[in-house]
Amino acid sequence: MTQEELFKKLVAHSKEYGFIFQSSEIYDGLAAVYDYGQMGVELKNNLKRYWWESMVRLHQNIVGIDASIFMHPRTWEASGHVGAFNDPLIDNKDSKKRYRADVLIEEHAAKIDDKIDKEVEKARKRFGEAFDETQFRSTNARVLELQTRRDSVIERMNAALNASDFDALRQVIIDEEIADPVSGTRNWTEVRQFNLMFDTRIGAAADGASTIYLRPETAQGIFVNFLNVQKTGRMKIPFGIAQIGKAFRNEIVARQFIFRMREFEQMEMQFFVQPGSEMEWYEAWRTARMKWHRALGFGDGNYRFHEHEKLAHYANAACDIEYKFPFGFKEVEGIHSRTDFDLGQHEKFSGRKMRYHDPETGESYIPYVVETSIGVDRMVLQVLSAAYREEALDNGEERVVMAIPPALAPVKVAVLPLVKKDGLPEIAQEIVRTLRYDYALQYDEKDSIGKRYRRQDAIGTPLCVTVDHQTAEDGTVTVRYRDTMSQSRVPIAELHTLVGRETGMRGLLEKQM
Ligand code: GAP
Repeated sequence: MTQEELFKKLVAHSKEYGFIFQSSEIYDGLAAVYDYGQMGVELKNNLKRYWWESMVRLHQNIVGIDASIFMHPRTWEASGHVGAFNDPLIDNKDSKKRYRADVLIEEHAAKIDDKIDKEVEKARKRFGEAFDETQFRSTNARVLELQTRRDSVIERMNAALNASDFDALRQVIIDEEIADPVSGTRNWTEVRQFNLMFDTRIGAAADGASTIYLRPETAQGIFVNFLNVQKTGRMKIPFGIAQIGKAFRNEIVARQFIFRMREFEQMEMQFFVQPGSEMEWYEAWRTARMKWHRALGFGDGNYRFHEHEKLAHYANAACDIEYKFPFGFKEVEGIHSRTDFDLGQHEKFSGRKMRYHDPETGESYIPYVVETSIGVDRMVLQVLSAAYREEALDNGEERVVMAIPPALAPVKVAVLPLVKKDGLPEIAQEIVRTLRYDYALQYDEKDSIGKRYRRQDAIGTPLCVTVDHQTAEDGTVTVRYRDTMSQSRVPIAELHTLVGRETGMRGLLEKQM
């Protein structure tokens, strides 16, 4: 199965089992907007809990807030979003499709990367055990030629973006002969700027109403509350403020399912530090955040750092954590050293002091900020992509199993009476009553036990508890494990502890510390 086929299957599976639906589907949907179904919302909530507990509960010096989506319009002038939150757009005159010029170029560069990888793989097969990849990459003429071309494309793109030189950006597309993936032609318009913020009106009367924006990031809600939290929480630098909430961007390139949406959710943490110490904290948060991802067990090799060559207007260092999705390595989280840009700007625009008074040194200063910013929806996609498996069973059947980390699984345990008679449903219901206060569970008595196992595999339930005739005699049940399909006999009295041990968040949180 190709990665493209796998991804199509994943999208279909997500819908079929209630993880993710297209928004307003009965009206043919709304592009790049999605709804979470009954399973998706549980998975998403568990992911948010994993992040929140790792940030807020396990750090004495990080607290949370929940700021509004609407903010005073001056916020976005101060942050630079009104002036600089733009995408460079280009249209193909034949297909009438619109693209982000930088994305077209990046995708073109990624194709050159693929060609390099193919050369490497060919050589690996040819040389077998003796193959030295580093040496091959640094000496093979074809690879070097491709690498030089790729680097030059990215370098030219970054220079054009940094200088806001849209003619130069277009020229990269022309020189590289990049074609529209839809029409296949190179009939391009000029490159234009497009602001990504959604605006709306606040207030009832048309003349008294004013334009406000739907926030394009949650971070600004943290910056404007910096002093409120610092003072009321008696926080001492270094300290962090964490927040989970919706953000909105009028994305033009809206593809790859929930990877790039117009309404999405972010989990952001701003860490306020003494000026001059930001690089130390930047390094520390890079390491901590990578550990958080890798603790999920999806394979260390499926993550990598991508250092930003083009820094945003507010940053003096920045990188992304990328995950290997079925459509390639893509950003899931950004770690940015934002200097004192945001607090400094808010001080300037609001006329209020945004300074920290150090009680020990008597010094007063605008703190520097290291930010970690991760998309909830991209995390959901990461988990779904990593978890989806098709397996051939010994009896000739097939199963689709979602190997979701148990702590994140929407349903922790399914309670299944083997048959719908002989008092077995009553015993199963009694088990449900003892477990339901602590664990998300399902009771299912319909269809054969095999079919019920398949249904639970498809939503990623880590444990199935089967009540059979032996249960009525000796008070034991069968516990079936999702990934291995192995079964063991367990006394009912031990179930509560077992489910907690196998599916609790604690193990995951300990791993990422
Ligand atoms: N406050 C900094 C900030 O917003 P960003 O790199 O623009 O930085 C951070 O966004 C994260 O938010 C990204 O790594 C990604 O996971 C998520 N994100 C951004 N735009 C998104 C979109 N259109 N759809 C889904 N997730 C998005």
